[in-house]
Amino acid sequence: MVTKYVRLALLGLCSLLLQTAAVQIPGNVTLAGRQAATFTNPLNQNKGADPCMRFIDGRYFLTSTQNTNIQMRSATTVEGLKTAQAKVLFTDTTAGRNFDFWAPEFWFLDGTWYIYYAVAGNGDDNTHRLHVLRGGTDPNDPSAGPYTYVNSLVPSNFNQWAVDGSVLQIGNQRYLIFSGLESSSPWTQCTYIVRMTSPTSITGNAVPISCPNLSWEILGTPVQEGPEAITINGVTHIVYSASHCSTDDYALGMITLTNDADPMVAASWTKSPNPLFTRNNAAGVYGPGHHFMFQKGNDFYFAYHGKAAPGLGCGDSRTTRVQPFSIFGSNPVFPAAVATGVPVAEPVG
Ligand SMILES: *[C@@H]1O[C@H](CO)[C@@H](O)[C@H](O)[C@H]1NC(C)=O
Ligand SMILES: *[C@@H]1O[C@H](CO)[C@@H](O)[C@H](O)[C@H]1NC(C)=O
Repeated sequence: MVTKYVRLALLGLCSLLLQTAAVQIPGNVTLAGRQAATFTNPLNQNKGADPCMRFIDGRYFLTSTQNTNIQMRSATTVEGLKTAQAKVLFTDTTAGRNFDFWAPEFWFLDGTWYIYYAVAGNGDDNTHRLHVLRGGTDPNDPSAGPYTYVNSLVPSNFNQWAVDGSVLQIGNQRYLIFSGLESSSPWTQCTYIVRMTSPTSITGNAVPISCPNLSWEILGTPVQEGPEAITINGVTHIVYSASHCSTDDYALGMITLTNDADPMVAASWTKSPNPLFTRNNAAGVYGPGHHFMFQKGNDFYFAYHGKAAPGLGCGDSRTTRVQPFSIFGSNPVFPAAVATGVPVAEPVG
């Protein structure tokens, strides 16, 4: 109620200012005050892969894969993230979990911030497992910390390579969703789900709910990873990244949960036949994916990584980009990937 009142009051103030301005400056200039703020992609020049981004109480917060530690930037505008000072939230010198931090995601659950991430042990990328950190309790500042290590999240039946942990909540039940190694020959990553009993614990077996078997999911090698859940008008989807991150054909796909069906049963999920978001040669965007969807008021945006030239692989040249997406019916609809340097509207909310 208070928020609505404040927003209406601000809008009233804006239109008053617009009317005042219109007297002196005719034409489009009057729109600039409220509408025309823009940013340009990318938000960083390197190490921008696997972004997680949220808008909270007037600020944007952004993490990406840094390999050596977990860092967060924050700013009051998307553009401002480019020059924001990164704050290191966590490093780990413990043997066995001190190598190659991937895809941190920050979640506020039951009054506390948590960061889910994957690390490898002993310098070997083939040993990645999921882990969780516990942070501070200020709902408006995920960067406040301090973050401390809690434990690994290894399902009882799945002491296997696992990356890209995220949270799916349906009613009161939370699930950890992640990308797990289904087969090492040929290398195949499926989308898995396991029940959570608290923000730092899981129980029971992990179950594969979707595997890559369509032409656009198997380029380079068959992969589904970076799962992110979104529920729209009561319909739950998981949007994931498909094909190998080293290819230019990395893309977003989606599976949708049949209403009221058990999310731990593969047959409850229906895969969309076509990718939702793909490379855009005309715009010079290659291998876009590993996204995170966030909201500012009524505006839906997503962060993702992309590459500015073909053949750049999975390395540090992946940069973070942000664009709006739409909701049609109960579905998220993603735009064409926009070229770097093109102005994109800042979220209005
Ligand atoms: C407003 O902008 C549009 C599109 O750029 C342009 O066609 C139009 O002439 C502008 N109007 C004024 C009054 O400047
Ligand atoms: C892909 O896998 C799903 C689930 O097992 C199956 O229903 C579908 O027929 C498969 N599609 C192809 C093209 O093999």
